[in-house]
Amino acid sequence: MSANALFSPFSLKSLQLKNRIVMAPMTRSFSPNGVPGADVAAYYRRRAEGQVGLILTEGTVVERPASSNDPNIPHFYGEQALGGWQQVVEEVHAADGKIGPQLWHMGVMGEHRSGWTPAQPFEGPSGLLAPGVPKGNAMTENDITDTIAAFGRAAADAKRLGFDCLELHGAHGYLIDQFFWDGLNQRTDVYGGDDLTSRSRLAVELVQEVRRQVGEDFVISLRLSQWKQQDYEAKLAGTPQALATWLAPLADAGVDIFHCSQRRFWEPEFEHEGSDLNFAGWVKKLTGKTTITVGSVGLSGEFLAGFAGEASEPRSLEELHRRLDREEFDLVAVGRQLIVDPNWVENIRHGRTAELKGYSREALSTLV
Ligand SMILES: Cc1cc2nc3c(=O)[nH]c(=O)nc-3n(C[C@H](O)[C@H](O)[C@H](O)COP(=O)(O)O)c2cc1C
Repeated sequence: MSANALFSPFSLKSLQLKNRIVMAPMTRSFSPNGVPGADVAAYYRRRAEGQVGLILTEGTVVERPASSNDPNIPHFYGEQALGGWQQVVEEVHAADGKIGPQLWHMGVMGEHRSGWTPAQPFEGPSGLLAPGVPKGNAMTENDITDTIAAFGRAAADAKRLGFDCLELHGAHGYLIDQFFWDGLNQRTDVYGGDDLTSRSRLAVELVQEVRRQVGEDFVISLRLSQWKQQDYEAKLAGTPQALATWLAPLADAGVDIFHCSQRRFWEPEFEHEGSDLNFAGWVKKLTGKTTITVGSVGLSGEFLAGFAGEASEPRSLEELHRRLDREEFDLVAVGRQLIVDPNWVENIRHGRTAELKGYSREALSTLV
């Protein structure tokens, strides 16, 4: 298998990329009081210098009183934080890189290990932390309207600051995903209901507002996952038909890229369909949209076990090349390898296998 597909350019609307490698969004908690500083800008610049095709920033929270559970996660509002992001964009562009922010609202969350809590209670569709576990507030219609407006303002700011695209975090059991999931969304108004299409209404309205703010030519990515941090076995769509029904209104609302989060990219999405297509593969096939795959690229173990302390070793990219060669998906996001090695792209491109590093959670304590 060749590496040609991975290093071929990619173009969509106003976004032009030199290769197919995307830095996955990864929370680093190095932005005191929500303000990304010069160290964060330099960290992203090193990935641009290392020839990453597109950098997606760590999740950065929109302007709601309880959108974050960690004071060191960057804000995407307020003069100081946006000034910090301006610096990030300038550094990345100076190194000929491309970058989009991942816009985030966490929804109902557990408390941070530091004990810090936001000024107001967490908020979500039904005031549930996990199925059957009450916590925080159920959002009113006013809360929802204000949240959509906050994402809209953030999107307009992303474009104004010169970002090349943006991503909405609709995965992993955070706010948007809490609405998708019947385990946490038990609303009986228009934002809830028995079918996934009704529970997708918040996401559809959000995407429409973001599209209205950024115009037609600016690329919007939506990150989705079947699994939740609250339940790894959860599956919003159990069949290809259900998946197509879920995604069609989101595509119509203005999503350009579906970023399909899996823990291991080689796992088939639907075991009983006689196909080895992964999540991104099915989504591309069913929607015709651009997709990004992700999950243990170049590493032996997956990232949640990594948080629990399991170390990972470098792993062959042969299966990735095989799937890219058959155009199963368009882009490939890489997480932990780009935490430990800003030059990972160049190392694999030149076959410098001796330079490849493993990953362990100690890597999270510094911005290399
Ligand atoms: C330290 C760390 C922080 C993460 N933070 C985010 C985040 O803010 N937003 C998000 O969508 N995913 C987040 N993820 C998930 C990654 O984007 C990615 O999907 C996951 O690490 C799998 O890719 P990998 O196996 O290449 O690491 C995080 C992962 C790690 C390891």
